[in-house]
Amino acid sequence: MPESITITDNRTGESIEVPIVDGGVDAAAWRKLLPNVWFLDPSFSTTAATTSAVSEVDGENGILRYRGYPIEQLAEHSTFLEVAYLLLHGELPTPGEYDKWVYDITHHTFIHERFRKRFMESFLHDAHPMGMFVSTIAALSTFYPEAKDIDDSQNRMHQIVRLIAKVPTVAAAGSRFNSGLPFVYPDNNLDFATNFLSMMFKIAEPTYECDPAMSRALDLLLITHADHGQNCSTSTARVVGSAHTDPYSVIAAAACSLYGPRHGGANQAVMEMLYEIGSYENIDPFIKAVKAGETRLMGFGHRVYKNYDPRARIIKDAAYDVFEVTGSNPLLDIALKLEEVALGDDYFVSRRLYPNVDFYSGLIYQSMGFPTDMFTVLFAIARTAGWLAHWVELLEQDSRIARPRQVYTGSTERTYTPITERS
Ligand code: ACO
Repeated sequence: MPESITITDNRTGESIEVPIVDGGVDAAAWRKLLPNVWFLDPSFSTTAATTSAVSEVDGENGILRYRGYPIEQLAEHSTFLEVAYLLLHGELPTPGEYDKWVYDITHHTFIHERFRKRFMESFLHDAHPMGMFVSTIAALSTFYPEAKDIDDSQNRMHQIVRLIAKVPTVAAAGSRFNSGLPFVYPDNNLDFATNFLSMMFKIAEPTYECDPAMSRALDLLLITHADHGQNCSTSTARVVGSAHTDPYSVIAAAACSLYGPRHGGANQAVMEMLYEIGSYENIDPFIKAVKAGETRLMGFGHRVYKNYDPRARIIKDAAYDVFEVTGSNPLLDIALKLEEVALGDDYFVSRRLYPNVDFYSGLIYQSMGFPTDMFTVLFAIARTAGWLAHWVELLEQDSRIARPRQVYTGSTERTYTPITERS
């Protein structure tokens, strides 16, 4: 059977055969046969906006791979910084490359003092840390104007190192300001995850110390959130990047997409839902309300996964390691029961709704002491690596500026009426 499709224009009888390559068909053939007939695809559910070699998401089979490596193997053996290197460079680093990468990231974590004091501290005391995050990352572009030279690959990599290194510092600074606590400077003696925990939670001790299970769990969460194909925020990064915008503005724009409750804000919504349910006896009425279309079961369902999200499985296991240190989170029992009820209910089974990455991550973050409004910021720290990998890929692809068409459904031409003649 030929690996191709045939498109026929029934108005003219003209046909064109288009080969199926890597599971996709080239839209250029459609354009040629059908000029000014647009393929209407709101939310891009059927449109591949690009080719990409960064991560592979097979939603039918519940598979996620970064550069070919299964997420389960990376979660078991790797570190977030090694995964970031892999996403950006396409290969795992050698020991020498890894040491240099870690050294470079570790030595770019500081942010300009005046910038933090004059810019970040000008927010209202209760500003949402994600709002502070996106604004601060965008404002960093004014500090590094040389970042606009996106054609110089060495310069690009310099900005990438700065961004991966500084996003935890910006995130923690926003949270500390928000809680009325003094800023904690980065500590170059700590690994990436522990340094972030130190900037978040250190009080007066000379060196921050935490149970290694906590930093490992955080590192694991960063690994599982680092990339995920052409999701909403990554697509935003690519669209903005296609205009040849500087990388700080690209990452800020992507973070704005992540801010939404349908995307990176879902784990916060999961926690709110679990609080609202509150106890076992409220589970059945809640599920009834979901089935009646009155509300959604947050942390369930995914545009791509029609199977168990592999990240949810890894995170669920990590939750138990964290709870061994922190003591169990009472909301976990409600979450487990909710999952059990949903997975046994035809409404969810027939729609292929399974727990997604956000169902358990909020419980871990909360047990580790993160305020709820920091959950999306944590996601942004991890996803910065993926956004940047896609940004580099885009620039190396020599892509055109993103410019979708529309199917116009508005009024046909009409004549302007002066305001005095309008009733
Ligand atoms: N609870 C109840 N019903 C749901 C849910 C849910 N969480 N998700 C989907 N459905 C139902 C829809 O009502 C629809 O039912 P219908 O066919 O009777 O109309 C059907 O399942 C298909 O749903 P869509 O909305 O078409 O699915 P879509 O792919 O557009 O949505 C989304 C995906 C936004 C993730 C959705 O499942 C949702 O809102 N989930 C809750 C929010 C969430 O957890 N988001 C995090 C996603 S992961 C991430 O971004 C990191």
